[in-house]
Amino acid sequence: MKPKKVATTPIDGQKPGTSGLRKKTRTFMEPHYLENYIQATWNGIGGVEGKTLVLGGDGRHFNDRAAQVVLRMAAAGGAERVIVGRNALLSTPAASHLIRKNKASGGIILSASHNPGGPDGDFGVKYNVANGGPAPENVTRKIFKATQELKKYFILDAQDVDLDTLGETTLGKTVVEVVDPTADYQELMAELFDFDAIKALFAEGFRIRFDAMHAVTGPYAKAILEDTLGAAPGSVVNATPLPDFGEGHPDPNPIWAKELMDVMMGEDAPDFGAASDGDGDRNMIVGRGIYVTPSDSLAAIAANAKHIPSYAKEMRGVARSMPTSRALDRVAEALELDCYETPTGWKFFGNLLDAGAATLCGEESAGTGSDHVREKDGLWAVLFWLNVLAVRKISVADLMADHWKTYGRNYYSRHDYEAVDAEAAQKLVDDLRDRLDSLPGQDFAGLTVETADEFAYDDPVDGSRSEGQGLRITTSQGGRIVLRLSGTGTEGATLRVYLERVETDPERLHDDPQEALASVIAAAEAIAGIKDRTGRDAPDVIT
Ligand code: G6P
Ligand code: ZN
Repeated sequence: MKPKKVATTPIDGQKPGTSGLRKKTRTFMEPHYLENYIQATWNGIGGVEGKTLVLGGDGRHFNDRAAQVVLRMAAAGGAERVIVGRNALLSTPAASHLIRKNKASGGIILSASHNPGGPDGDFGVKYNVANGGPAPENVTRKIFKATQELKKYFILDAQDVDLDTLGETTLGKTVVEVVDPTADYQELMAELFDFDAIKALFAEGFRIRFDAMHAVTGPYAKAILEDTLGAAPGSVVNATPLPDFGEGHPDPNPIWAKELMDVMMGEDAPDFGAASDGDGDRNMIVGRGIYVTPSDSLAAIAANAKHIPSYAKEMRGVARSMPTSRALDRVAEALELDCYETPTGWKFFGNLLDAGAATLCGEESAGTGSDHVREKDGLWAVLFWLNVLAVRKISVADLMADHWKTYGRNYYSRHDYEAVDAEAAQKLVDDLRDRLDSLPGQDFAGLTVETADEFAYDDPVDGSRSEGQGLRITTSQGGRIVLRLSGTGTEGATLRVYLERVETDPERLHDDPQEALASVIAAAEAIAGIKDRTGRDAPDVIT
């Protein structure tokens, strides 16, 4: 079988962002669109000849067709082996693990994460490198350059590979190995966590509701939580991955996972609720009657790592993205752990994890993870919580109450102004940046500004510097305001305002976050004039 050479021309706009190339599904389905990008990826990484690759995706519309194209192009490029999840399914953390476990050169993940799927939704292609993490900028730059110079691509003229049956087949000279998408991942989880303790918890009648949001974690959660750990059948809901995620928005937060929130706040709520996103890297944790913010979840995970032997034995440092609340810092200080503050974006944790500087890391945007893979990991966070609850024999609400009593509570909220006029949003940030130096010492809505700067990150491992990573203002009474423009919005600009205030008064640890943050919210408005400049009365989304 000889590869077919197809003449093509560069396609505009194939610039990978932080999470690969994300476009409308219909765009990806246009002639040559996917093929061009895959060939540019091969060209950008120096070809795939003799290499082992991993391939899988979140099951969204076009996932199956795209996987066949990637396989034929990997074969045309002379790849030695492609390890692919059955039916081309792999969660993002499971793909990261397979790359590492098999010492593959890299992998292709077909996903647009938490964005809606279907013919009118989004699709995406991401290349991950040998450490299992998303390609760093020096790689994505080469891929983008290759998209701009592309004149031809190579594809094998062949029938579809049967991806339904486990085992090896060949495509040209390439071995295609179809693997159970959950088996290796489950094995890794069993190494990290005390499955017997969690089994005992479920055996005592502990109830869980895991909402897979019709996305990829359904089969993983069923295999691990129900079939292995003994959670009652039906504990995993919306468990079958659907190409359009049941027309839902598979983003695990109180807004999009409202069904779960309603159950958890209701009369007969189970003990524990959780959800994950389209490709399984994000998570949401809810107890009976209590939503745990991602920032608090990260802090609680760090504080309780001592209860989990695989983490207790080797806790190095911890890391959080800059806008994530400083609840983690309070735990790190108490436990004498190094605490790193990185820019938004999981890729910034990669070096710290590779260098053994950090063991746990997380972001306010519902991402938590550890050095077990190089992606955030939704189900991992759920198992971490379950393991802790099993050991401590305590409810989520009591665990958080105890946490806040010990470390104080960092009230936290994010206010998003979406689809704002891009120029107005940029001007708001630019003008505020110009005024930063004058702010310390000034009073706004009863709070005094203590520090004000623009965050820049010097990577302690490779010495690289990332500038312009968000404006930070700290105030009296433990307040902090962060403003930045989202890097993932698709329409206009999204202004994110992150609000935080530390409370240590034992009588004030259970207030409503918006009320507890009222003074910080008012100060942010007084400092930045958000309503005036965006023309909005209120944020579009409050989390
Ligand atoms: C993606 C990245 C995360 C990041 C998030 C929010 O999910 O994987 O690392 O935190 O986007 O980004 P944004 O720029 O929209 O705030
Ligand atoms: Zn995701």
